Amino acid sequence: MLYLIDSANLDAIRTCCEFYPVAGVTTNPTIVSREKSDFRELLLALRQIIGPERMLHVQTTATEAEEILREGEMIRSLVGDFYLKIPITREGLKATTMCKKHGIGVTMTAIFTQPQALLAARAGADFVAPYINRLDNIVSDGVRVVEEIVEIFTKYSIPTKVLAASFKNAEQVHKVAITGAHAVTINPDLFDTLIYHPLTYYAIDDFSKDWEMAYGDKKVSDLLG
Ligand code: E4P
Repeated sequence: MLYLIDSANLDAIRTCCEFYPVAGVTTNPTIVSREKSDFRELLLALRQIIGPERMLHVQTTATEAEEILREGEMIRSLVGDFYLKIPITREGLKATTMCKKHGIGVTMTAIFTQPQALLAARAGADFVAPYINRLDNIVSDGVRVVEEIVEIFTKYSIPTKVLAASFKNAEQVHKVAITGAHAVTINPDLFDTLIYHPLTYYAIDDFSKDWEMAYGDKKVSDLLG
């Protein structure tokens, strides 16, 4: 399972890319609006920070297919190959097929049900982005929805990948990993939560104390250099 950063905060993305195995960045209009930046400059900076290899998913704000395609082409001319996030609507499905014909990658977003995901896949979407926490918030089961989307795609040998989104805690991420979803996109803080365990720190502390008892302040490199 791949990890993407669900943020447009340049400092946070830079830090995550330095320390974590990050496969890309996803944004949406809400995330972008928080940065209060020039949109063009923000996109250019995002691409510059993550480099050409990592995936960039940027959402359209257009609601009609032709305009969605136009936005996709404009964003591509700025950042190179990327995935246009298109919310699942009738126009969005039409736009997905059009974008694919024009060689633009598509992530169909705001997915809350299995039938939405299957239709998005049949329209040619590269990724579907089901929203876990927003489903959990309304006493639905986000992980179960992802599980069934993965099952359906596998059953019909559908190449569309599942990029699970909208997480609030590590347990949701862990449960989605078990479903076989291709990727998750999470906020920068959640990366730190995912690697945290107090026993890890106790273990590291014990290793240091035992080493010091035997070798004082000498490091491995001092002893082998
Ligand atoms: C990403 O593709 C989604 O837009 C995002 O994860 C939604 O997350 P939220 O439910 O925390 O707003």
